[in-house]
Amino acid sequence: MQVASYLPSRNLAMELVRVTEAAAISAARVQGRGNKNEVDQAAVDAMRQVLSQIDIDGIVVIGEGEKDEAPMLFNGEVVGNGSEPKVDVAVDPVDGTRLTAEGRGGALAVIAVAERGSMYSPGSLVYMDKIAVGERAAGKIDINAPVAYNLAAVAKALGKAVSDVTAVVLDRPRNLPYIEQIRAAGARISLIGDGDIQGSLSAAIEETGIDILLGIGGSPEAVTSACAMAALRGEIQCKLWPRDDSERQYAADRGLDLNQVLGTRDLVDSDDTFFAATGVTRGSMLRGVRFSGVHTETHSVVMRSRSGTVRFIETDHRVEWTEGNLLNATSEQSATST
Ligand code: FBP
Repeated sequence: MQVASYLPSRNLAMELVRVTEAAAISAARVQGRGNKNEVDQAAVDAMRQVLSQIDIDGIVVIGEGEKDEAPMLFNGEVVGNGSEPKVDVAVDPVDGTRLTAEGRGGALAVIAVAERGSMYSPGSLVYMDKIAVGERAAGKIDINAPVAYNLAAVAKALGKAVSDVTAVVLDRPRNLPYIEQIRAAGARISLIGDGDIQGSLSAAIEETGIDILLGIGGSPEAVTSACAMAALRGEIQCKLWPRDDSERQYAADRGLDLNQVLGTRDLVDSDDTFFAATGVTRGSMLRGVRFSGVHTETHSVVMRSRSGTVRFIETDHRVEWTEGNLLNATSEQSATST
């Protein structure tokens, strides 16, 4: 009989996926109604309810915002049932709230956890310039280099032509210079309306067909993505991106260096990050929630950086349990690991 050479310790992400499954199901229930707040509220309520059952003593570091604007899952909120371990928590109940409200693809429910004090807090600086790639191109990119340099580096690492490299970019006017430079270099573009957590993770998961994420997106999403990139052995580099002089002053007052390149380790200083995400609407990495009548089907990914395990999980939730009773949901899971 073969004996395992090590005993795996608790993988929190396996528990956290129940939080994102609940958020995704609740958000998907109100998909396409045109109401962003309704989507967010549904996901936050479900996430909070299930999170309260998880054995952690968590503090939300990346949350819905400050307490007054975000009544739930606000930065500084204590979550979990208070048991050890003490952890920092990053939540995005729906990354792609607008996508869900409009019935478009690309939305995820996301949570990430790492030990207390490990997550970078961007304060009021809500945007970062970002570049993210997968394991084969990790160590070969430079956010300060021209776009053409990075596309060539990715092409070389992946053993293909620049014209076959696909860059995912958030569709925003501020990212137009990126789009122009990618076009000039001859690479392919996948524009997304929202949801750059899925964008950066897709760059690190080869089956998605995405090779690199480029452009300016949310700071909280950068920290959350870094928890997954650590598990995927990919690389994310970011720089704070102030919108105006008042944000430049805010950075100066707090001694934040706008030229500093924040790598994966700066964004989350941990050897043991946990990440779980569930598709709300169909995306490049995860399918959206499907309501089949008897079952509600979810598709999730669960990762841990210490071991580098990446599990895709398809779950059938019995409808009689998920309808109004997410807390007591029983489910059958089938998992495949990469
Ligand atoms: P939410 O759905 O959580 O609001 O975020 C969507 C999103 O597209 C993120 O993925 C992205 O990082 C950020 O918003 C970009 O911000 P903005 O929409 O202000 O350009």
